[in-house]
Amino acid sequence: MTQTAPYTLIDPLLGDSEAAELLELFERFGSYGMYSEEGLNEGIGEGLPQRFDAAFNFVNTGGRFGRHEELEVLVARTNYFRETYCYGDEVAAPGIEIMRDHPALIEAARKLYGHDVIVPAIVYANVLVPGQELAVHTDVPEFRGANRKTNPEWLLVVMHHSGLFEQWRMPIATAVAWFQRAEGGEFAFYPRGAGGGPSTVPASFNTAVVIDTDSVFHGVDRVRQTTVEMPLLKPGMRMVSDGPGTQRWRVKTEDGELAAWDFDEIRLSISWKAYCFADQAERQAWVDGSDDIDLDTILDTLLDDLRGRGRLKGDRPGSNQDLAEMLVDEYIKFPPAEQVAA
Ligand SMILES: [Fe+2]
Repeated sequence: MTQTAPYTLIDPLLGDSEAAELLELFERFGSYGMYSEEGLNEGIGEGLPQRFDAAFNFVNTGGRFGRHEELEVLVARTNYFRETYCYGDEVAAPGIEIMRDHPALIEAARKLYGHDVIVPAIVYANVLVPGQELAVHTDVPEFRGANRKTNPEWLLVVMHHSGLFEQWRMPIATAVAWFQRAEGGEFAFYPRGAGGGPSTVPASFNTAVVIDTDSVFHGVDRVRQTTVEMPLLKPGMRMVSDGPGTQRWRVKTEDGELAAWDFDEIRLSISWKAYCFADQAERQAWVDGSDDIDLDTILDTLLDDLRGRGRLKGDRPGSNQDLAEMLVDEYIKFPPAEQVAA
């Protein structure tokens, strides 16, 4: 029997005036860069995109519905915009505390793992424009001693899916809150596991889901495309507001402008993540770094397991690409692409 992953839906999340303040904050912040695959790591990650896992699957399958398009269009559909509003106590967008410290989110996080010590870690905005979607993925998990500052993101994802590093894992609760008025862009997720079929939640204004997005596959269905052609969004572009109160947004390139939309056409979600420690001692071990795992241990453990599974004979594959493909293919079992309704 497949177990269903726990999650909490919150509707509404904020009071009307707080929601309006959040929209003002979104506009006032004003400029959003692209969350692209451009960050490369040295060493084991050299030459590979950070989310090699999700990109590998998306390009192989054509997304949740197996739609096949030119590669540059496919990539443009997932090149969305993201900006961080706060990281722990560092607040880049004053006013975001209404999300960071929201009691309903903290309570839902507590319920998710049954852990008492909830420490909000990050709040960031995700913006998808018409025609964009988000490939099915699980989020980047964190372990004591291994996080996105020290390791490639795909390797952290592999670690979690392998189940071999649970004693170092940091349980993280994620809330995704929607503040869009656009059509489409439903949140699609697989609470019954990769083979259990998707559920969808409409991305309704001022509602949220709290879930373990490091374990549960999820993605975003396509935001209703309001132009004939999908603009070819590329890394380095920014989405910029026309100014407070205009509700108008443009994508700027180095030498001009690519497209413009009203707020009502774009999809805005705000993600919130919190560490969920079982007790203060566990929180302290994380602060002290007294029980950290290192990269050699991670790789040796994975390679030994691959040998035990008969997947690897002898030494590690020579190139990072070959190693990453073997690890992603062996440990991350993505949901199959669905049939597109006729
Ligand atoms: Fe995600």
